[in-house]
Amino acid sequence: MKIFVDSADVEEIRKIVKLGFVSGVTTNPSLIAKTGRDPREVYYELAQMVEHVSAEVVSEDPESMVREGLEYASIHPNIVIKLPMTPNGLMALKGLNEKGVRVNITLIFSPSQALLAARAGADFVSPFIGRIDDIGYYGTDLIRQVSQIFALHGIETKIIAASIRHPIHFIEAALAGAHIATVPPDVIWKLLQHPLTDIGLEKFLSDWKKGMGVNV
Ligand code: G3P
Repeated sequence: MKIFVDSADVEEIRKIVKLGFVSGVTTNPSLIAKTGRDPREVYYELAQMVEHVSAEVVSEDPESMVREGLEYASIHPNIVIKLPMTPNGLMALKGLNEKGVRVNITLIFSPSQALLAARAGADFVSPFIGRIDDIGYYGTDLIRQVSQIFALHGIETKIIAASIRHPIHFIEAALAGAHIATVPPDVIWKLLQHPLTDIGLEKFLSDWKKGMGVNV
């Protein structure tokens, strides 16, 4: 499973990319709005750092979605266009596919939506785990079902597990067969750290200090 950052905070992402395990970034209109910045500048800066930057359109009719998607895609070859799982989003998907632009269909909440999006030509689908959990169902079951359906039918569309709220979502997504997990920065830091690692390192260094009589 590949690891992406789910954020539009360029400086925070720059810190995380330095750790070496991140290969992409997903943004959405809410994350972009939080930055207060020109989206095109954010997309360009992110595309310099990673091989995949999902940039979501906010237009609502297919023609405008295609126009906006082409504008973002022209910023850098690493930019992938995010479209909503709606009839207009699928019509825009066709339009962008014809222009050779990669598409990530987002706001997916059922296996049927994922299968239709894949058959419509999506390069990526983004099932949301956390928002399904929020209404009392098991979000990771969706990842597992989509993964099984895609494998059974030889579908090459990649599954991006999204709306990840804590480390268990991340682990469950990996076990359920997601190709990619897109993780908010605060969760990424939780994935990385473990109290026993800190305790163990402290013990190694203090034993070394005692035994070798040197300062470390
Ligand atoms: O960016 C798409 C998805 O990851 C949003 O997550 O936490 O707003 O449901 P969340």
